[in-house]
Amino acid sequence: MLNTNNPQPLIHYIVQPGGKLCGSLRVPGDKSISHRSIMLGSIAEGTTTVSGFLEGDDALATLQAFREMGVDIEGPEDGHVIIHGVGLRGLKNPNKPLNVGNAGTAMRLLAGLLAGQAFNTTLTGDRSLCKRPMNRVAKPLKEMGIRVDTTEGGRPPMTIHGGKPQAIHYQVPMASAQVKSCVLFAGLYADGQTSVTEPEPTRDHTERMLRGFGYEVTSVGNKTILSGDGKLQGMTIDIPADISSAAFFMVAACIAPDSRILLKHVGINPTRDGVIKILCLMGANIKLWNKRMVGDEPVADIEVVSSTLQGIEIPQELVPLAIDEFPVLFIAAACAKGTTILTGAKELRVKESDRIQVMADGLKSLGINAQATDDGMIIEGGTLLGGEVETHDDHRIAMSFTVAALRASSPIIVNNCSHVSTSFPGFVDLAKQAGIDIEQQIV
Ligand code: S3P
Repeated sequence: MLNTNNPQPLIHYIVQPGGKLCGSLRVPGDKSISHRSIMLGSIAEGTTTVSGFLEGDDALATLQAFREMGVDIEGPEDGHVIIHGVGLRGLKNPNKPLNVGNAGTAMRLLAGLLAGQAFNTTLTGDRSLCKRPMNRVAKPLKEMGIRVDTTEGGRPPMTIHGGKPQAIHYQVPMASAQVKSCVLFAGLYADGQTSVTEPEPTRDHTERMLRGFGYEVTSVGNKTILSGDGKLQGMTIDIPADISSAAFFMVAACIAPDSRILLKHVGINPTRDGVIKILCLMGANIKLWNKRMVGDEPVADIEVVSSTLQGIEIPQELVPLAIDEFPVLFIAAACAKGTTILTGAKELRVKESDRIQVMADGLKSLGINAQATDDGMIIEGGTLLGGEVETHDDHRIAMSFTVAALRASSPIIVNNCSHVSTSFPGFVDLAKQAGIDIEQQIV
């Protein structure tokens, strides 16, 4: 049976209770950095060589979009990609809508780059992406003098009428690296200085990578400044393993008794390491080995040993630094002693699904007292039962409930896991190798 809105087979996970994690593994490449490597490599002069590229649907959609704009890209083969950059003004009109699938990052960052082109482009995506808000990028681009059309309520498809963006100083209303990056990308095509001020620091891969390409970017507190019409020079990029994917195995090793796992070559950028800090506050036993810089990004091997977690009030300043890891952190909270309280995380409601509601519903159906609030969740640690949960087309929900089975009293069936391939190709095999008893059912 095929899902008609989404012409992929339906995949369900059947996860047996119990098990322990052991061994050493490397999860796939960082999704945020993979997107940016294709985007900036394409508009650079000369060749950019990438290793560790995430061959997941989201990053592949970005790669395909740039091919459709005339960029010659070799690979990916075993995480290796060679991009023959066309320079800031060398992209060609794709003459058809660019479909970026499930990838919010692709759509929002591309919007910024497309603002500076000599052609108009329509961006579209899958069922989940077409429900997500785009006004957050349309608004600053309009302030830059660019016409942007969306459907009702600011949803995709979104058409960017390329032109000459005017430099602006933009105060981003929410903590969003995608909005920051979109405005900075449009600023590459503006005359004079564009700056973006964010309410709290968010992931800074765009700024680091632009500097790596030889582009001058200044950061002062929460403000990032660049001037238009510079030049990017092709480079070599070694993409670390994605901390957001490693997070599933970090929580798994914390909650499954007698576990010890080593996660290799993981990106530990301080704007992304909230999951480590939150788990440590909960009493996790986590050690970072062999800390080093790989290109512009800090990397380490992460050792996690099982421990008894305690419920905590999650500090507000850590929320943007762990924004993608809350689904699996909610599983950690369900297995902890006492109550965990998350506030200030309203953004979770507009991710690939409403991650507050979907996780609260799933946890409740597994016997956990989880109360969704407007901007977070209150979870009382307890005993996870088995049962059936829905992912609402959200990859991270699927992987989080897979991890939950380690502490469940009977099997957990996770319905509709097709989207796991957006960020974590090979998840089932790696999970099995690490000690999770998982089978997939394809219907
Ligand atoms: C991302 C930024 C975050 C994050 C997303 C990737 C990026 O989104 O949730 O998975 O690569 O810039 P927001 O900018 O909406 O917070």
